[in-house]
Amino acid sequence: MATETLRRTGVKELLAAATLDREVLVKGWVRTRRGNKYVQFIALNDGSTIHNLQIVAAAEQFPEESLKDVTTGACLAVRGQLVASQGKGQAVEVQATEITVIGQADSASYPLQKRGSDQKGISLEALREIAHLRPRTNTFGAVLRIRHALAFAIHNYFNAHGFFYVHTPIITGSDAEGAGQMFRVTTLPPEHPPRTADGSVDYAEDFFGKQTNLTVSGQLEGEIAALALGKIYTFGPTFRAENSNTARHLAEFWMVEPEMAFYELEDNMDLAEDFLKSLVKYALNHCADDLAFLQEQYDKELLGRLNFVVENDFQRLTYTEAVEILKSAKQKFEFPVDWGTDLQSEHERYLVEKHFKRPVILTNYPKEIKAFYMKLDEDGRTVRAMDVLFPGIGEIIGGSQREEDLEKLQARMQEMHVPEDDLWWYLDLRRFGTAPHAGFGLGFERLVLFVTGMSNIRDVIPFPRFPGSAAF
Ligand code: 4AD
Ligand code: MG
Repeated sequence: MATETLRRTGVKELLAAATLDREVLVKGWVRTRRGNKYVQFIALNDGSTIHNLQIVAAAEQFPEESLKDVTTGACLAVRGQLVASQGKGQAVEVQATEITVIGQADSASYPLQKRGSDQKGISLEALREIAHLRPRTNTFGAVLRIRHALAFAIHNYFNAHGFFYVHTPIITGSDAEGAGQMFRVTTLPPEHPPRTADGSVDYAEDFFGKQTNLTVSGQLEGEIAALALGKIYTFGPTFRAENSNTARHLAEFWMVEPEMAFYELEDNMDLAEDFLKSLVKYALNHCADDLAFLQEQYDKELLGRLNFVVENDFQRLTYTEAVEILKSAKQKFEFPVDWGTDLQSEHERYLVEKHFKRPVILTNYPKEIKAFYMKLDEDGRTVRAMDVLFPGIGEIIGGSQREEDLEKLQARMQEMHVPEDDLWWYLDLRRFGTAPHAGFGLGFERLVLFVTGMSNIRDVIPFPRFPGSAAF
């Protein structure tokens, strides 16, 4: 009865409470229980913060037997007095008067039983196998709160700078990057698909009457919106069926793609740099507790690196200049570099971590290694591309100024075998009121990876998809 009249307060709020010596109701999950025959201490966490609330259960009121279900992982409701803590390690604690076990967690079978509250004793790899429980660890709680803060900061930044959020389709009839490697979307029966006279699968019979795929990027549709609304961004899931089993690639990831009319490459770089700095700054200002935990547990240089990125200019140079630097580097690379080859992550990381020791923006790549829509430079050999490279990550942003000239765009599409039929609407943007414009794509998980200092991209998204794995 009384439980109904007292409203629940979150752990974060209680830990910061200014008024003490009052009755409170708190609910959450047990991280640990320890104590002696006089008193038991329960560390309770409800996800609102990395910190636990200490619940004190005196033996007179709570004999051992009454606490047998208060085990790591169990869900509790606790009523008691919020008081200044008599012990070290916390400012306040709750002296329990009533403890209700809402949900038990059998200590023999609960997987996070060992050292319950954090990843110690259970590896990050093993935690991927129990993606339904890993958010209850300190590590994933911290990562997920930081991930949220960054998503919020992205919307905040764009809203404050006059960008409009546009929802681009997830199912598309075109391949934006012209790179293949897409996931097909179909309702045709896999065993007996309808066939045309020549024996190939008849996609005219498919759900949409044509071949469709999951999108690899919202950019092309984003350009439609930018040439009407001026400054827009997309922020949605993207899919790539490339067989990249690395710590930087996912088959399903979230991409943030601003697109701006009247922006040229310089403006695009200025935006990317300001945007990234403001996001990192937001995390430093709003996620201090979670960042401190991650620094302590995993990466002693985390905060130093984040502050460095906020405080220093990114190094800007052309692809051609970068190739010169790499060719004269003392370091031996696994993949040789020469003008015209795509840079590997070992090259990107050499430039960022060894040579310049700061984030780098590389521009004006050879047209052969970039997408068809990038604006051709005067020399006819390079395009107005830009990649932002980050320490420990490599490429975090890829973008460009777009080709706004109809004929030049058509010529590039022909050279690169991009069918005009599929993209007639994209060409129309150049037929009717074309304008210089530019944009970029930020891999959201790569940003979260950088800010959290985690080392594998599979550990910064709740349900990672990668080759051979979509278990949850
Ligand atoms: O460089 P990308 O392929 O660029 C585009 O898709 C453009 N249409 C963006 C634009 O100009 N609007 O991808 C952009 C970013 C990369 O820099 C990287 O951070 C991330 O997306 N990314 C991935 N992140 C995780 N897993 C993957 N498989 C990724 N592929 C790209
Ligand atoms: Mg790229």
